[in-house]
Amino acid sequence: MNLPNLESARIRTSDATIVKRNDYIVPEDMKQIGKGKYYCLYTYGCQMNVHDSENIAAIMEDMGYKRQEDMENSDVVILNTCAIRENAHNKVMGMLGRVKHLKETKSDLITIFCGCMAQEEGISLELKNKFPWVDIIIGTHNIHKLPLYLKETLKTKEQMMEVFSIEGDIIEGLPVKRDSKYKAWVNIMYGCDKFCTYCIVPYTRGKQRSRLPEDILKEVKDLVANGYQEVTLLGQNVNAYGKDLKIHYNMANLLEDVAKTNIPRVRFVTSHPWDFSDEMIKIIAKYDNIMPYIHLPLQSGSTKILKKMGRRYTKEEYKELFYKIKKIIPNCAITTDIIVGFPGETKDDFQDTIDLVNELKYDLAYTFIYSPREGTPASIMKDETSLEEKKKRLATLNELINKYALWNNQKYLGKTVDVLIEGPSDKDNKMMGYTDTMKLVNIDTNEKYIGKIVPVKITDVKTWSMDGEIIDD
Ligand code: SAH
Ligand code: SF4
Ligand code: F3S
Repeated sequence: MNLPNLESARIRTSDATIVKRNDYIVPEDMKQIGKGKYYCLYTYGCQMNVHDSENIAAIMEDMGYKRQEDMENSDVVILNTCAIRENAHNKVMGMLGRVKHLKETKSDLITIFCGCMAQEEGISLELKNKFPWVDIIIGTHNIHKLPLYLKETLKTKEQMMEVFSIEGDIIEGLPVKRDSKYKAWVNIMYGCDKFCTYCIVPYTRGKQRSRLPEDILKEVKDLVANGYQEVTLLGQNVNAYGKDLKIHYNMANLLEDVAKTNIPRVRFVTSHPWDFSDEMIKIIAKYDNIMPYIHLPLQSGSTKILKKMGRRYTKEEYKELFYKIKKIIPNCAITTDIIVGFPGETKDDFQDTIDLVNELKYDLAYTFIYSPREGTPASIMKDETSLEEKKKRLATLNELINKYALWNNQKYLGKTVDVLIEGPSDKDNKMMGYTDTMKLVNIDTNEKYIGKIVPVKITDVKTWSMDGEIIDD
């Protein structure tokens, strides 16, 4: 049994990252263990977790299990968790309550708890002491060992907890069962070394480690050969790609090489403003298949708060970068993340955020109330703002964000834009897809365009989406 430890999770050494290519093993006697059995998989959190779930699904299927949505009739329930904010945590705990209920009538149900929450010290103790019926608890560093843990649990019938608070390796050769046949997530790096004072990710995901360019490019080329239309390059801080490699190769080089594979669409998330180079901006502008869409988390419009957050840029530096991007890539959509109610945020600091949003007029923003995470420096900072006041600030901010989202969308009315049609939308008989600038479009058409990039005329715009029609339908 290995429990997570926050102190160890914080350590960063200069040791080289080890790339492990043969560490995923399904023992012979586990290859058919799931035959005729079902698993269901719940994913919380960011794209990184969504992609990890694609690996977990493939690992389960390598053991013969089939996926289904219905937990009540499943043999294995997997919760791939997120620790970023209190409400992500609460959702998982609520789900754990549902699983417990089911376990009371179905004693052979196997429960697997993985993802970022498993990396938290407090949670691991809670699972050990209060939820002994959770069969397997694994962290973000050892998903590939799932078949071995499952084998052990089936034998011993005891709780198995293996969570490592380490800097981490790179595991190549994991199987993947992608959710889409047209769009694919491709990890380019793991972990984070930025240690923003509010954030748990550097503790749950380990050190920043870039995959080798040849491994990434091989994955992209295989996707192209299989008819994929879009790749999204994934990392907590993709602009820093390559900085930990022993070769001279950076995010601009990678973007260019990925663009040259001729995949129709290249996206990337998330961009920390700190590492955004001029070279990168030029490459994005140069290649038509690199999408003019950048998620550029601001977090706060107050330089004082940014400093307390450890974000390493001032309001002015952020603005300079924003305008540089807009100048070199004029049609670029820019979205952001903003936290309100960080410890010490005064009304004036919040006003700085409002003023900046009024000036930059983001295409969209994801906004959050600050949530203290155990073990992070911000969690022990003095915080005198009431929750009521924080909620008011969030509502004020959201109103403004929505106003500019609509304002930006209105520029599309009557225009014709390329949309990658993904499948049925939530609305009756419509199809949905995204523009190059990541605008959601609902289209009155049928299945024949699924998986294709087609010109669509925008006929109506709303805050969160647009309606359109295919020109020669
Ligand atoms: N690596 C990305 C962010 C990943 S987390 C970046 O640096 O831009 C996604 C978003 O969650 C962050 O941008 C931040 O706005 C929010 N977030 C992270 N920790 C939080 C916390 N403790 N409370 C509230 N929001 C938080
Ligand atoms: Fe968290 Fe900051 Fe790293 Fe983003 S860059 S994952 S906010 S520590
Ligand atoms: Fe959540 Fe972990 Fe992602 S904390 S946001 S799932 S990296």
